[in-house]
Amino acid sequence: MEQIYPQLITFLEQELGADNSGHSLDHAIRVYNNARIISNIEGGNQRIILMSALVHDVIDPKLFLNPKEQQEKLLTFLESLGCSERELREINYVIENISFKGGHGQVAQTLELKIVQDADRLDAIGAIGIGRTFMYGGAKGSKMYDEAILPIEFENEEAYRRHKGTVINHFYEKLFKLKDLMNTPTARQLAQKRHDLMVHFVEEFLKEWRGEID
Ligand code: ADP
Ligand code: NI
Repeated sequence: MEQIYPQLITFLEQELGADNSGHSLDHAIRVYNNARIISNIEGGNQRIILMSALVHDVIDPKLFLNPKEQQEKLLTFLESLGCSERELREINYVIENISFKGGHGQVAQTLELKIVQDADRLDAIGAIGIGRTFMYGGAKGSKMYDEAILPIEFENEEAYRRHKGTVINHFYEKLFKLKDLMNTPTARQLAQKRHDLMVHFVEEFLKEWRGEID
């Protein structure tokens, strides 16, 4: 799939266009680009990988009140693009299992899921990751930082979703963990630079917050 189907872009604009929490069309396209780079090295069925990367947020329960309805709409649409039953099953498997879920997601079983999950996680870290995290915090009305609210480990997915912490805590609660959760060696290598940038950013943020001068 060298060229993205134009109908797919229109569909994504319709479905994700209203999002202001860091899950918009530009995120889908970055995940697609990351997935292509990883799968050029790691292999896998590239059509499944690239299609899944583009549509992975269309059934996200955080973004949609009725994810089942989204899933039906998506599968019908992909069928109209010419996807076979088997391809629909494979894409569905990837997008149903991609989420971090507070660290309570299942370990990825197929190479296609491993690669798309890594591609999505790469877009959660680094410079873009920092930007998206502040966008999300702003959209949800979270504070940037509060010394009195400590980062926590989540017992289960529900606790992760319910929790309303600070933007800076999200780095400790999720983002700093992602480097070691990468499934593929290629993504692990790409993650290192992005990870180091976030660590440096948070260090500087806290220094400026406290009024410390080097
Ligand atoms: P997943 O879908 O993999 O479980 P999320 O959708 O929870 O991950 O997170 C996607 C991105 O949204 C995060 O990488 C982060 O940028 C932002 N985000 C999610 N939860 C929070 C939060 N509590 N505070 C700040 N940003 C968040
Ligand atoms: Ni995503």
